[in-house]
Amino acid sequence: MIVLGIETSCDETGCGIVDENYRVLGQSLYSQVATHARFGGVVPEVAARAHLEKIDPVVRAALEEAQLAADAVDVIAYTRGPGLMGPLLVGTSFAQGLSKALNKPLMGLNHLEGHLASAYLTDPNLKLPFLALLVSGGHTELVHVGEGLEFRLLGQTRDDAAGEAFDKCGKILGLGYPAGPEVARLAETGRRDFLTLPHALMERGNLEFSFSGLKTAVTREIEKLGASISDHIPDVCASLETAIVDVLISKTRWALEACDENRLIVAGGVAANNYLRSRMAELARKEGVHLVLPEKKFCGDNGVMMAAAAQKRLELGKWPASGAVTAGLSWE
Ligand code: KG4
Ligand code: ZN
Repeated sequence: MIVLGIETSCDETGCGIVDENYRVLGQSLYSQVATHARFGGVVPEVAARAHLEKIDPVVRAALEEAQLAADAVDVIAYTRGPGLMGPLLVGTSFAQGLSKALNKPLMGLNHLEGHLASAYLTDPNLKLPFLALLVSGGHTELVHVGEGLEFRLLGQTRDDAAGEAFDKCGKILGLGYPAGPEVARLAETGRRDFLTLPHALMERGNLEFSFSGLKTAVTREIEKLGASISDHIPDVCASLETAIVDVLISKTRWALEACDENRLIVAGGVAANNYLRSRMAELARKEGVHLVLPEKKFCGDNGVMMAAAAQKRLELGKWPASGAVTAGLSWE
């Protein structure tokens, strides 16, 4: 069974082709990051136009890498939501057209389910149930995934997502968009104890997140530092990264306890963060938990993860015979 997955929910045009063993046969990704950088964020209308331009070449490139003709694909999967309306419409229309033209079934999937599925690419034998920490630019959630792929939201952010906190605080520090990877790079040489930044909602067992206070805290600290801030950018980045990761680690530990789970995955763009990855590995060692960290290239938005999510549904028979998958996601 070969699935072709399409992703266009935000600013990456992605296509991935995955077989039933979660082997990647072909992939292609066009990032619009450079296009949006000058606006300091994703402009939905600009993103939709770029998807329209790139979707056909991106899908062709994935098929070429897989050395497959389009009609060798068995199922077309695509991101149905959540995401930006214009960009989603481009992927949806393309997937629908492809499905009609090739007479192949169509699966519309949740983008977050796709992020979680990036773990199967690293560990094709990963068993359900598991606990997932999903950390991206738009989401920060602890989700329990049941034996039958039931999604139970345990906690989420009340305001900014973890990636958003990296990006917005990085912007305050004068870094480009998206600032997350740059904050992480600078943090490597900084002092983690330089600043004590707020760790919100830290009553034991509280699985909700709040990162919006970091912007004000970072702004105040910069003001206090005055001209000397230019000598301390890596220190502020290291302190910021530590504050965010400390919270993610504590809450993941509490969630593991709450659902008595011994399998853990971390997914989403922020899962590419080295410091988070090493702290998660340390947590998993201490707690005796099986940890799956997706390859960094599959942490950010991509089409491969959508194809993997579709394969999991096919494997479990969780695909309504009537066609598109619309049910089963409790956290929409
Ligand atoms: O999953 P993703 O590509 O898009 C969304 O669905 O949001 O995540 C993008 C987010 C951005 O906020 C970006 O700054 C952040 O992931 N990010 C990182 C790192 N790489 C990407 N944040 C911290 N450290 C990184 N290494
Ligand atoms: Zn995403």
